[in-house]
Amino acid sequence: MTVTGTGELGSAPGPGGQALAKASSDAEPLLRLRGISKHFGAVQALFGVDLDLPAGQVTALCGDNGAGKSVLTKTIAGIHPPDHGEMLWEGKPVHIRSPRDAASLGIETVYQDLALAENLDIVQNMFLGRERLNRFMLNEDSMERAAAETLAGLHVTTVRSIRQPVSTLSGGQRQSVAVAKAVMWNSKLVLLDEPTAALGVAQTRMVLDLIKRLKDHGLAVMVISHNLNDIFEVADRIAVLHLGRMVAQDRVSAFDRQSAVDFMTTGGSAREVGTSGSSLGRN
Ligand SMILES: Nc1ncnc2c1ncn2[C@@H]1O[C@H](COP(=O)(O)OP(=O)(O)OP(=O)(O)O)[C@@H](O)[C@H]1O
Ligand SMILES: [Mg+2]
Repeated sequence: MTVTGTGELGSAPGPGGQALAKASSDAEPLLRLRGISKHFGAVQALFGVDLDLPAGQVTALCGDNGAGKSVLTKTIAGIHPPDHGEMLWEGKPVHIRSPRDAASLGIETVYQDLALAENLDIVQNMFLGRERLNRFMLNEDSMERAAAETLAGLHVTTVRSIRQPVSTLSGGQRQSVAVAKAVMWNSKLVLLDEPTAALGVAQTRMVLDLIKRLKDHGLAVMVISHNLNDIFEVADRIAVLHLGRMVAQDRVSAFDRQSAVDFMTTGGSAREVGTSGSSLGRN
């Protein structure tokens, strides 16, 4: 397990003073963050955070309330550009200073509440701001077809009509539409900030299945969740933030429930679970 902090055993200090988190696979991750810091006035929300988001894998970003998960998500999404640190996209340095920058790289973010416009229908939401035109008219047929094909491709089958307003959808259906929207725009990285927090059991199931399909499509997925069942079911990798610091990052097999909880609540763990083959650092 890569336990970041005062790492030993071959972990070199990163730009933010942390041990470098090693990628759990040898391939270059789609997005690599190094030494990302962010403050708001006197509040230091992120301290030299390292994070790897590999393609075709789900990384669960965990941590207690106020750990910095949403700030880190918004940093990647271009809403809160970092004060310090480096972002590498497919191995090349990038600056993501606006949501537009993030979208042009292929980064889509799905928030629990802010994902969709309530009063618009599914097709309108999926094409909001990127409508297809037929000369000067909206090309409704083409947009309907693309929206329907994308939803069908993701096995989202419970919506009655793609012309129904989003306000009439269940929470799980809304999240499904938000995720489908991300997929339709050829995203490479999808960030989901607590996508199942307000959902019932069946709706959570729907969204977890969808997350697995995103990874099967080869996308990199980062999902924030407080729910250990969800995390252990869907994640390939776990990254734990504690008070703005990345305290552990590794394959899911390197954690058990107790060690994950330990890292989330105290920033460390005395337990050593499964040898994942990646580097092991110790606090
Ligand atoms: N816009 C902001 N202005 C000032 N402080 C902020 C801002 N956004 C976040 N913070 C602070 O940054 C820290 C991290 O907040 P963040 O929202 O990232 O936590 P979180 O890990 O997402 O928590 P939760 O699980 O409760 O959603 C908190 O101390 C929070 O008060
Ligand atoms: Mg949050």
